[in-house]
Amino acid sequence: SPGFAYRDGELHVEDVPLSAIAAEAGTPAYVYSTAELRANWRAYADAFDLDGPGGRDVAVCYALKANSNLAVIRTLTALGAGADVVSVGEMQRALVAGIPADRIVFSGVGKTRDELAAALKAGIHQINVESLPELDLLSAVASGLGLVAPVALRVNPDVDAQTHGKIATGRKEDKFGIDWSQAGAAFARAAALPGLRPLGVAIHIGSQLLKTSPFALAFAKVAELVTDLRAHGIGIERIDLGGGVGVPYREEDIGPDHRAYAQVVRETVGHLGCHITLEPGRSLVASAGVLLSRVVHVKEGLHRRFLVLDAAMNDLIRPSLYDAWHTILPVRQPARGAPLSAMDVVGPVCESGDTFAKGRRLPPMQAGDLVAILTAGAYGAVMASTYNSRPLVPEVLVAGGERAVVRRRPTLEELLAMESVPAWLPPPGS
Ligand code: LLP
Repeated sequence: SPGFAYRDGELHVEDVPLSAIAAEAGTPAYVYSTAELRANWRAYADAFDLDGPGGRDVAVCYALKANSNLAVIRTLTALGAGADVVSVGEMQRALVAGIPADRIVFSGVGKTRDELAAALKAGIHQINVESLPELDLLSAVASGLGLVAPVALRVNPDVDAQTHGKIATGRKEDKFGIDWSQAGAAFARAAALPGLRPLGVAIHIGSQLLKTSPFALAFAKVAELVTDLRAHGIGIERIDLGGGVGVPYREEDIGPDHRAYAQVVRETVGHLGCHITLEPGRSLVASAGVLLSRVVHVKEGLHRRFLVLDAAMNDLIRPSLYDAWHTILPVRQPARGAPLSAMDVVGPVCESGDTFAKGRRLPPMQAGDLVAILTAGAYGAVMASTYNSRPLVPEVLVAGGERAVVRRRPTLEELLAMESVPAWLPPPGS
């Protein structure tokens, strides 16, 4: 990969040894590679001919939820990305990072009145509406502002994405989108309400899809719906196909490659002449990030061997939440033929779920050694919390030999400064 490789006996991010980052920023820290971000962008750009004539009608709106660091957004938008946002906070980040409002799509199942108003005032490209009550609310808000909302209706195609249950979103029992059987009525309602311009169909069936077949099923259903709506006089001009392809977290994961995915898009909806929006998150950023951590203890229990890290579930929750596999590499390159032994890689948080890996085969490790938890650029830093009063960890962006702390580590004082003890409680020492 262009981002991370062993060189001179040590894991580097581009031209920078990870030990240098640990010395400069401390551990734990997220470290991102610009080269890897570019390569991930290029995969979409090539598959969809984004820089050529074929790409004129395709917009890649990066799903900020995967990694919303301003420097990461800036890197992707400099390459051509728009944004998919799910809160007014994400919209603000997109705008601050320099993404024009007319390249921003607003998704989400529970957008509030204030959020809808902010999006309309900013002049964003599209609001993806997920329910009839939201349609009514948006109509009222837009009419009140004297504006017309560009609307796509997110429909639920009832397709199983064949991914982890917590990140499958397109089955009929999931909370997302308008029920397939109600889609026609919802579009009719949107066309009748004031302040709305219904012009698109949106779907998102789930994340971390490693097969193209669920995409193909869902996109074909969308094509049918668009044809049907047009026959009823509703002029659909845009299709939003939701998140991108899955990524290989381990060697045996072979994802749908971008070209196969683009092929499915062309074959299913290409003939409709619609503008296509894609909302990839994970596949643009996952491989571009590692969580760099230091071994606090090697604990030889009677039954298990534990590698206790200074990173924890609050910094990277994916293994705890989804039983996700993340490859863990020692930063110092192991000697050829070094014996591997099974270890449980854990954090210091007071829960057994604070486990990055169970029985992971690793070379001999000592306290003070550095490890890199790979493929952590997506849904890593953004899902972190301060559980156990552990401050959020810094984020470092590397480009060649250059590196910059793009989010600093807050101090403990800052962590406490948001809280106050009311005067009516007994003072300390009483
Ligand atoms: N569009 C919508 C409407 C979404 O809900 C999502 C992700 C995306 C786009 C981006 O999908 P992607 O290209 O990243 O697959 N925290 C979980 C993933 C949650 C995904 C939620 N929605 C994880 O760590 O696996």
